[in-house]
This record gives sequence, C-alpha cells and structure tokens, in this order.
Amino acid sequence: MPELAMNGGTPVRATSYPSWPVWDDRDVEAVTTVVKSGNWGGFPEPGPNAERFEEAFAAYQGARHGVLMANGTVTMEVALKALGIGWGDEVIVPALTFAATAYAPMASGAVPVIVDVEPRTWTIDPDQVEAAITDRTRAIMPVHLGHQMADMDRLEEIARRHGLAVVEDCAHAPGQQWRGRGAGCIGEFGSFSHQSSKILTSGEGGTLLTNDDDLAGRAHSIVDCGRAKDPDEKEFTFGANYRLGELHAALLVVGMERFPEQQRERAEAGKELERSLADVPGVRVMPADERITRWSFYNYIFAIDPDAFGGRTNEVVCAALEAEGIPAEVQYPPMNRYELFQPSLSRLPVAVEHADRLDPQRMSFPVAEAAGLRESVYLMENVFRDGSQGVQDVVEALTKVQRNADELPGAAGVAQ
Ligand SMILES: Cc1ncc(COP(=O)(O)O)c(C=O)c1O
Repeated sequence: MPELAMNGGTPVRATSYPSWPVWDDRDVEAVTTVVKSGNWGGFPEPGPNAERFEEAFAAYQGARHGVLMANGTVTMEVALKALGIGWGDEVIVPALTFAATAYAPMASGAVPVIVDVEPRTWTIDPDQVEAAITDRTRAIMPVHLGHQMADMDRLEEIARRHGLAVVEDCAHAPGQQWRGRGAGCIGEFGSFSHQSSKILTSGEGGTLLTNDDDLAGRAHSIVDCGRAKDPDEKEFTFGANYRLGELHAALLVVGMERFPEQQRERAEAGKELERSLADVPGVRVMPADERITRWSFYNYIFAIDPDAFGGRTNEVVCAALEAEGIPAEVQYPPMNRYELFQPSLSRLPVAVEHADRLDPQRMSFPVAEAAGLRESVYLMENVFRDGSQGVQDVVEALTKVQRNADELPGAAGVAQ
C-alpha cells in the first residue's frame, strides 16, 4: 500500500488552509460607498481612498510618502524613471526573484545586471554587487525574498560609497523592519505589490514609498501622465497613466486595518515552524536574519537536501507536499533559466563586456541555480493563519515525504 497521498495514500491534511483574501462587511461597504459616489477612477491623482491608504501604509512602514499605482512592477519602473535612470545605465538585480525585478530596468531603458544571491538568505550577495559595479551602474535593486530581507547594512554602505541609488523590491515584505527601519524606507524607494496573492492586497495594485519629497512628487507625476505635482505646477515629467482606481484603493484602506494583526499571527506561527523544522531530516532551515526587528512575510522559504529525498528535487517534493494538503511551491528558477524572460534579455543591445551577464548560456549563478533548480521550497502565507495545527501539519507532511522518499516519482525538469 502506498503511503504518500500523491500515490493514493491518506493525506496529512484533509481540510484546506484558510483562504485568501480575507474579507468581511467592511470591504463590501467600502466598495459600495465608492460605487455610490460615482468617483471610481484614480483621477484626480491621488483619489481620496488612495491618499488615505498612502498615508496609512507609509506611516506603518515609517516613510514620509506613499505613491499608489497599478501594480508592483510599474512601481519599480517608475522609481527608476523618477531617479532619472534610463538609456545606457546599469541596474544590479539578484538572480533569484520574480521577472518583474529585472523587467523594470529594461522598461526604463536600462540594462539589468544580474548577480548571484547569498547562500544564507538567498537574497542579493553584496560581494557580487560590489564586483559588478561599473562606471555605468546607477542603482541596486535588492529583493526582500520570502521571509528574509537583503543585507541592507552592507548594501546601503556600498551604495553610499559608489554614489548609487537603492530601490528595494518589497513585494514580499510589507510590514518587515530592519533594525527598526521599515522595508522600503531604507533605499531611495521601496516598491510593494498588492496583487491577489500578496499579504496586503486589493487584487491588483502597487505602492512606492520614499522619504524624499522631490522623488515622491516626481513619482506621482509619472503615474499621472506627467502632470505637475508641485504647487507652482512647474515640474512636468514624461509619464503615462499608471493610476489605481478608487475601488481598489478602498479595499486597501480596509486591508490596512487588518494587516497588523495578520502580521503578528503569521510571525508567531513562523517562529514555531522555524523551531520545529530543525528536527526534520533533509531540511535546512534558513532562520530569519536577526537584524529583522519586525517579522512579516509572504512566503516562508526553506531548503531541502535532494540526497535525503532519494535524489529528487524541490519540484517533486513540492508536488508531494501539495498532495498531502500543504500549499508549497518552487517559485523562482534562477534568472538564466527563466523561460518567461527570454528572449528579451538576450536581445538587449549590450556592450561586449556584458555578454557573460546577459547571455543566458554564459551566465553562472551557482547559489541561485542550486536554490531554484534543486532546493527551494516556498510555503504560502495561509499556512501561517491556522495556528499551531497549521504548522505541525507541515512538519508531519515533510517528515512523511522524506521517510517515504522511495515512493517519489523520478527526477523532474525545471518549473517556470
Ligand atoms: C519579488 C516580486 N517583485 C515584483 C512583483 C510584481 O508585482 P505585481 O504582480 O504587482 O506586478 C512580484 C509579484 O508577483 C514579486 O514577487
């Protein structure tokens, strides 16, 4: 008789984890009020709900300004444009992230220079950043991946020394704090996504945070077709319509009210998981960096040792966990294997010196490759909204899959 649920055995979890997004009458009322007002769009920018959310979220993270817009991809493009980054410039991004992080420099006209991540956190490796800097480098875009934050101490110091801007990709990190400073408030800009699966969501949407008054004005202008935002109406920029409508903004206002409690709940369950995972054979825990002073995560990430799972990779282990009722995914392949991202990346008009960074055949990211192709397992946020039981089911399922590794199907290809 097979043991694993993927082969017909009894799953560890018979019931689903709590669904996402969470909503109640407050959301219905907020949207209804907007519908009845007739003020559905995002013009004039920002609308009343957009402004309320921008203020509340910026205050929670500790920034002077928030700029709400269509999604967490154009946020990064707008940030780079507001910083004046474009043709001929280089922007350093990590090899393990969603395609949007590298898309943004390309959309603003710059070249994304991809570097490997560090083994301890799978976030951008500051040594690799430093080695990739040329006289055309203008910015670093660290990604606060999963439950981690990039090493902002070192990145801030490198950026200062080389006169570079920092745009933090915080799509996974609303709520996180690094030594008491909010994610997205450390660099010139922080970019957040409010897409459906993210932990502060309105289905679609994105926010830029900044402490710089001029940069905030410029970002507001770029998302509003370039309209001037200074009181004298002097500074016009080159922009497009990236505004978010009021229906979405109203959902974010309510979502923000719930957010702190949800964040605490996930962090508490995350700590329990971190302790319990240490005892599961074949699992390498990657504890949250101790400089994270408020822990708030979208996915919790750990590594498996394929040898302990009969030589099978993360993709097979995630499929087995899913069958056991645990929402687990491989998420990102390393950037050089990202089908979604080719052939655009390899067709960029680049100088010869960049060939080893932009020709996927010649790129080498040993840490991101090991993570994306063999080791990484991302647990979804709802695992951490079902108390101790939700956590213990993960431990039981992983232990069961490892113990019955001989039942796992043969090695699989690369997920996209
Ligand atoms: C790391 C990262 N950056 C950027 C994005 C882009 O956000 P959006 O889907 O809102 O454009 C995402 C979300 O999918 C993400 O995971």
